[in-house]
Amino acid sequence: MSRITVTTLQAMKNRGEKITCLTAYDSSFASLLDDAGVEILLVGDSLGMVIQGRDTTLPVTLDEMIYHTQCVARGSHRALLMVDMPFMADADPRQALQSAGRLMKEGGAQMVKLEGGAMQLETVRRLTEHGIPVCAHLGLLPQSVHKLGGYKVQGRDVQAAARIRNDALALQEAGADMLLLECVPAVLGAEISQNVSIPVIGIGAGPDCDAQVLVLYDMLGITPGKRPRFSHDFVSDSEAGSCGIAGAVRRYVEAVKSGSFPAEQHCF
Ligand code: KIV
Repeated sequence: MSRITVTTLQAMKNRGEKITCLTAYDSSFASLLDDAGVEILLVGDSLGMVIQGRDTTLPVTLDEMIYHTQCVARGSHRALLMVDMPFMADADPRQALQSAGRLMKEGGAQMVKLEGGAMQLETVRRLTEHGIPVCAHLGLLPQSVHKLGGYKVQGRDVQAAARIRNDALALQEAGADMLLLECVPAVLGAEISQNVSIPVIGIGAGPDCDAQVLVLYDMLGITPGKRPRFSHDFVSDSEAGSCGIAGAVRRYVEAVKSGSFPAEQHCF
């Protein structure tokens, strides 16, 4: 079976076909998600919180990201492998190029994801000139949690929404192959998805994004503490015949494809 590529995902957006993405951190889950038809596996730096038990994603290192990417790469054969640049691994374009190179050469990443808008334009240009596919993460930026004062919805007022909208267009122009929008009002998610030609992945960004992503442990209901509003426990939905983790992942894929997830209660 051939691997999904950025071209496959672009064609899906062009056809109006919904794309599914989940985070993965190890080989067994990667294999299960692959078999369930998830198109993108994100080795997210959320692993700092859900695997390592830290309060934020900030302490995660590049070596740790490479290790988890290697594990996920061994378990998956079909999904596109997208990997987060950890905090400060992309502090300037030169360092970002080195970090992305290691994630691809040593880890097996097919695409890197980095957080930030206008400040990342030069880096996005540099990476894409070197043939590295980039997903730019906008809206709530977990690596900026201390500057943002917490994990809060972004782009609620007119100026903030305009900044995110302009950043999205500028990042596409700089060569980004994909965007990820986290925790923004559903209307903004819809507008940006319509206005850019590249696929837009949403998490807490409404049902009209081209793709949806969730943190795997949130959608399996095993993250300790309160589940974020935008997430959903797909294990608790189980009915006879479709229970267990594989059933939950299949329900997630079906719900994204049919447009029934995210529903109103998951949006801002
Ligand atoms: O690290 C991660 O898992 C992410 C998701 C929240 C999209 O970036």
